[in-house]
Amino acid sequence: MQTRDLVAALADGRGWSGSELARRFGVTRAAVWKRLDELRAAGLPLRAVAGRGYRLELPLELLDAAAIQAALPPALQARYGDVAVHWEIDSTSSELLRTAAARGDLAVCLAEQQSAGRGRRGRQWQSPPLCNVYLSVLKRFARGMGSLAGLSLAVGVAVAQALERCGAPPLALKWPNDVLAGEGKLAGILVELGGEFLGPCHAVIGIGVNVYLPAAVRAAIGQPAADLAAICAPLPSRNRVVAALLTELAEVLDRFDASGFAGLREAFVQRDCLFGQALDLSDANGRQRGTGAGVDARGALLLRQGDTIASFDSAEVTVRRA
Ligand code: BTN
Repeated sequence: MQTRDLVAALADGRGWSGSELARRFGVTRAAVWKRLDELRAAGLPLRAVAGRGYRLELPLELLDAAAIQAALPPALQARYGDVAVHWEIDSTSSELLRTAAARGDLAVCLAEQQSAGRGRRGRQWQSPPLCNVYLSVLKRFARGMGSLAGLSLAVGVAVAQALERCGAPPLALKWPNDVLAGEGKLAGILVELGGEFLGPCHAVIGIGVNVYLPAAVRAAIGQPAADLAAICAPLPSRNRVVAALLTELAEVLDRFDASGFAGLREAFVQRDCLFGQALDLSDANGRQRGTGAGVDARGALLLRQGDTIASFDSAEVTVRRA
């Protein structure tokens, strides 16, 4: 009994009894229960329904490389090449970083779950099976790493556009790269660089989108979080979400490659939720206060402090509550 096949059976959202599953996979009921317990411990939103067996809290489609490919514009199908979908991996970004040398200009890696999902600043990224999108894309650049400032902001624009195309209401961006629905974080972006400092180099762009956050996972996140299930009706399939992300991302990356962040700055500023807000910043030099004043052409955060405007390439930012 492959775990993926067991989950595929449950993914329709209707109830399955232990004996039905045992019969279907030719194993004992005890073997089914053991596997379901493991999946539940990993965060699969599985419910035991009195008299009806087990079902997922909502129907969730498994990721399907062929369906994702087919939903891409033909020119992009060729550019991305194979869409790799792993049942479980440590981190989709780690996988692309490990195998970068063997990849072309654009490559994509997806997983149904990550055992060591990574967020910014060394944080863990909750990655339970099936619930969310865990996607990494590798992009090569002829230029050096210094020219990639602003890339994660540009990716934020692509992610917001893609999710809105899938039915999300207007989304905001919180510098440097959180995608917000209301006050909650809907998606996070992690950009990691490899190659030569002066070029050529490559970026591995990791994107995590919350599609459905089970209560236990939401509690473990430790900050306000949003998911597509709460803001999209109907809930788009994860395959559709991935295809939309890959489509918008390719377009934004091409624009970034041609003219850097400057050409995407306006699109970021329109969604900038820090603009005009009283902010607390902390960086290597300590704490700062000021008012959000947008971003510059390189993607640095601008902070108005009295009559001066200071710029920050890297900092932790919070909105100061009155
Ligand atoms: C953040 O801290 O906001 C960034 C989160 C990035 C998570 C994604 S999920 C796919 C890829 N693989 C990882 O290990 N991290 C990124």
